[in-house]
Amino acid sequence: MPAGFQQLGGERITGTLALSVFTAVLGSFQFGYNIGVINAPQKIIEQEYNSTWMERYSEPIPPQTLTSLWSLSVAIFSIGGMLSSFSVGIVAEFFGRRKAMLINNLLAFIGGGLMGMSKICRSFEMTILGRFTIGAYCGLASGLVPMYVGEIAPTSLRGALGTLHQLAIVTGILIAQILGLESLLGSKKLWPVLLGITVLPTVLQMALLPFCPESPRFLYIVRCQEHHAKSAVRRLTGRLDVSDHLAEMKEEKRRMDMERKVSIAELFRSPLYRQPIIIAILLQLSQQLSGINAIFYYSTDIFKKAGVESPVYATIGAGVVNCAFTVVSLFLVEKMGRRTLHMIGLAGMCMCAIIMTVALALLETVPSMSSISMMAIFGFVAFFEVGPGPIPWFFVAELFSQGPRPAAMAVAGCSNWTANFIIGMGFQYVANLTGPYVFLIFATFLLFFLIFTFFRVPETRGKTFDQISATFQRHPQDMMDMDLGMEQGKHSTELDYLGSDGTEN
Ligand SMILES: *[C@@H]1O[C@H](CO)[C@@H](O)[C@H](O)[C@H]1NC(C)=O
Repeated sequence: MPAGFQQLGGERITGTLALSVFTAVLGSFQFGYNIGVINAPQKIIEQEYNSTWMERYSEPIPPQTLTSLWSLSVAIFSIGGMLSSFSVGIVAEFFGRRKAMLINNLLAFIGGGLMGMSKICRSFEMTILGRFTIGAYCGLASGLVPMYVGEIAPTSLRGALGTLHQLAIVTGILIAQILGLESLLGSKKLWPVLLGITVLPTVLQMALLPFCPESPRFLYIVRCQEHHAKSAVRRLTGRLDVSDHLAEMKEEKRRMDMERKVSIAELFRSPLYRQPIIIAILLQLSQQLSGINAIFYYSTDIFKKAGVESPVYATIGAGVVNCAFTVVSLFLVEKMGRRTLHMIGLAGMCMCAIIMTVALALLETVPSMSSISMMAIFGFVAFFEVGPGPIPWFFVAELFSQGPRPAAMAVAGCSNWTANFIIGMGFQYVANLTGPYVFLIFATFLLFFLIFTFFRVPETRGKTFDQISATFQRHPQDMMDMDLGMEQGKHSTELDYLGSDGTEN
């Protein structure tokens, strides 16, 4: 961890906190790895499907069937994620965050095993089933990891540590892109290793989890085990006197005891939660409908069309930019705030999408456009990681207090996976229809989300969970005031929050 990071926000990062966050985000790493891994070896695995088909039916596979089988292998990952992300809340409440992550690893073992053995067993069904299982693993991880990290992090570090989830995802994508090179594991012989190697981080996570404390918020607020919660906070903060942390949790629990447990249906029915759940869903959609996965699924193809000389390495270049800017975001998120960064990211992506479209459209007549479109793609990726990439994941956890949080995480996760699935299935088709203008569609989405964020998304930096949920428990007129307050700057907003707390209690 970089040296300057320790002072961030005034709260110390202890060994236990660092270990716990690292262990948790191994799950996010696998999530990224399995997003990125399926891209490079497409042709090779397709050949494998073909030869398996030959052995079984002694005729080459019909091209239509091959396309369907391949699309299924790619997309069933999102379906697994969609289904399991719905159960995040139940699993996290029943087992606790830590044990849930531990048990989830079973899915990774099964999924990785199925994919790794599919070549030996001459079965593409195993590859597909493996993708589904690993998708289910990733769906649970994409909810459990931000939940756990958000709950063990001190308020002043919550954003910075929350970004690590995204950092681990993009690192996973990058590693998968590199290992997927034909000279490494993306070869005819080694692709099962490439897919199956995902069990390695699983083993590491299982070995480390027993040394991580359970989320003190879960212990105290859900299980009412004050003593255990206290010792967990002590381990995480390295302090003996943790009364301030306990007081914060007590306040959260007090509020939660007042509010009933919230189901998914209630999230939408209650006017109390309607505002934040719409924000949560739209933030998740802004991440996926920005078009980022169009870049990650098809970048090599796009670079090739843009006339870039070695498209595979340009793809890896995009992966590096991706990682680098996630780190930038990590340092900015507690300084500039989530809302500002999200808007900068959306605006930048929108601009890059337009430049990219113009460059691709002029490519025929102006050859030098090739490098401009490459720079625009790099810029697109960079701006994504400044805001829309990392922020929606932990923002959802911040918008809700304990009562509605698990249900809200499930809804948010499910919207994210659904949008992911739609982009994964639909992009190629739409791109064939619209040619270089496909990114104008994303530019339009980005503009819409930018306007929405400007008018409707509150800043959550440095606020306790209670202060945040208090902003939504006011009259519509107050919501308008808050919007105005935010434009006038941070100071007046904070006074605004204090005022609201004072009048409500
Ligand atoms: C499948 O393999 C056969 C021979 O190995 C080849 O002729 C055929 O083109 C392949 N089919 C597809 C769809 O790649």
